[in-house]
Amino acid sequence: MAPDESKTLPPEGADVLVEDFGELLAEARARTLALIDGVDEDDLNRVHDPLNSPLVWDLGHIAAFEELWLCRRTGLEPLHPGLAKVYDAAESTRADRGEMPYLRLSDAIDFLDGVRERVLGVLDRADPFVMEMVLQHEHQHGETMLQTLQLAEPGTYTPERPRDWEGAVTSPPRVRIAAGEFLMGDPGDGFAYDNERPRHGVYLPAFEIDSRPVSNAGFAQFVEDGGYRWREVWDAQGWAWAQARGLERPRYWTEHGEERRFERTEPLDPNLPVMHVSWYEADAFARWAGRRLPTEAEWERAASGTEAGSANLDQLAFGPRPAQAASEAGALGMLGDAWEWTASAFGGYPGFSAFPYPEYSEVFFGDTHRVLRGGSWATRPRVARTTFRNWDLPYRRQIFAGFRCASDVSG
Ligand code: AVJ
Ligand code: FE
Repeated sequence: MAPDESKTLPPEGADVLVEDFGELLAEARARTLALIDGVDEDDLNRVHDPLNSPLVWDLGHIAAFEELWLCRRTGLEPLHPGLAKVYDAAESTRADRGEMPYLRLSDAIDFLDGVRERVLGVLDRADPFVMEMVLQHEHQHGETMLQTLQLAEPGTYTPERPRDWEGAVTSPPRVRIAAGEFLMGDPGDGFAYDNERPRHGVYLPAFEIDSRPVSNAGFAQFVEDGGYRWREVWDAQGWAWAQARGLERPRYWTEHGEERRFERTEPLDPNLPVMHVSWYEADAFARWAGRRLPTEAEWERAASGTEAGSANLDQLAFGPRPAQAASEAGALGMLGDAWEWTASAFGGYPGFSAFPYPEYSEVFFGDTHRVLRGGSWATRPRVARTTFRNWDLPYRRQIFAGFRCASDVSG
């Protein structure tokens, strides 16, 4: 992807606060480096699972992205001109990255440092939208790196768990939302990606949505009821996928009612949201329960007004916690804890226009990807907003993702 000089100015409604980006970038970098602190060099350099890149690829890619958008646009030559393709996510697939000449640990750190030094020299000339994009890019890769660390063998990574969240908020099991139009997408009071724009009116018939995500106890009932062997509740492709792999439970559940998170395998907490299920499993559960997944419009409508401040975000708890943070409609835990699969395929809103590069969102539009909403415990708060759209293939389970169900309401 080459920066297009005609697209330097953010489109209307994309105002970004000019803050001290030097400090914000330094904070992001400290977090990136803290993630790999204590992981063996060999474990940083190698592929742990074909689903994700080697961790050092993420480091080099963070540097290359920052250099592309903040240095090369101001006329500086790249530090590693031969590696542009290696670090361009659109040119290399994750599964191939282990075969490519990506920089190993000390060279990747030098690349990060070298780019950052140059960036600090040109920050006063950089576009605030682009600076914010570079910052949020590094934040997002932190979550990807945590997925990789979870995919790795136990013992590869032993995180400190610096904060916990106590005390569940009580609520009726479901929230009912009356029919009506709401405004979907970026409200225009901060940074947003192109796929969140433009804001547009959407009419929704009345619906009900769970007040909290489906719990481990709820999902265990599906498992015990033979949900994984019940053809009728599965999407046809999902059935073929699950059968071919002999799937019987979520990705990190054991057959003894435990769940692995990083180095720890502990009894499942019945009250916490189920995690590491694919869209196919979420969809099958919903049908088994006589429900359905919410569309992303329904999800966003139900989430509106949730404050990120009290949500379980920011790589502190290293797992979901009892749902807190109510939305205006009274739905809990819409931000943080676990991403939530929605029924919707990933597409552009009416009037979509790619900005500032089509490889961020547009190349993924179509039937193949499903949208996830809400962020997880591993999402940095700057990226967690009720309009943010994440996406992945329906059979992927490495994301810190669960779901909640919805249903139609007649009358
Ligand atoms: C929004 C998480 C799907 O990881 O592919 C990172 C974010 N885009 N670098 C991804 C992203 C470019 C993206 N997701
Ligand atoms: Fe990236």
